[in-house]
Amino acid sequence: MRKILHLTCSPRGPLAHSRVISGELVARLLAAYPAARVIERDLVTTPPAFVDSGFAVGIAAAPPDFGVAALAASEALIAELEACDAVVIGTPMNNYTVPATLKAWIDQIVRIHRTFRSTPQGKVGLLCDRPVYVVIASGGYFTGPSPSGTPAQPDFLTTYLRAIFGTIGISDLHFIALEGLTRGPEALAEALAEGRGRIDRLVPVAASA
Ligand SMILES: Cc1cc2nc3c(=O)[nH]c(=O)nc-3n(C[C@H](O)[C@H](O)[C@H](O)COP(=O)(O)O)c2cc1C
Repeated sequence: MRKILHLTCSPRGPLAHSRVISGELVARLLAAYPAARVIERDLVTTPPAFVDSGFAVGIAAAPPDFGVAALAASEALIAELEACDAVVIGTPMNNYTVPATLKAWIDQIVRIHRTFRSTPQGKVGLLCDRPVYVVIASGGYFTGPSPSGTPAQPDFLTTYLRAIFGTIGISDLHFIALEGLTRGPEALAEALAEGRGRIDRLVPVAASA
């Protein structure tokens, strides 16, 4: 493993649980692959542009002209993703799904004729598969009911990320859910311990290049 892309998108800076635990996962990968380089992309301090008219026109052009200025930022983000052997995402759950900043990144990197093509059989991804680790921080519970029995919230986050990464050819997704983070100190401690346990199982300390 030579390059790891670390995407973060919580507005809470160093207090963000998604940032802290995804950072620990990156550190674990680095321990296993010491020669790897980490590309840090903070989608809050450097938010990707929202799709504009130049982008919308540019992607529909036939044949596509990847040199057009309106697609330059998209090209750069796609190149960054293509160059990485693994992706680590730290994200809050916002209103049952990904935050707008992460969605803006997705809109830049999921592009017809470039990262997927449309066929009569459906969309076909054009990127090589690679592991994507997604650390999700949520105030409540979405993988099942809360410990007190409140029903699970809807989850449009893991389902969406699976569908959208699958569209561009990436299906090796691993989710680390940190749930119940706003439900008091005990629930918080339990969620962080569970998340760290899951990281231990996903990337054992002894893993090596
Ligand atoms: C705008 C907004 C929407 C949120 N939506 C949800 C939600 O749908 N479900 C949930 O469990 N928590 C929700 N939360 C709580 C956050 O997911 C929780 O505070 C999480 O710990 C934030 O991640 P961070 O610690 O990485 O900043 C929301 C918080 C904000 C600010």
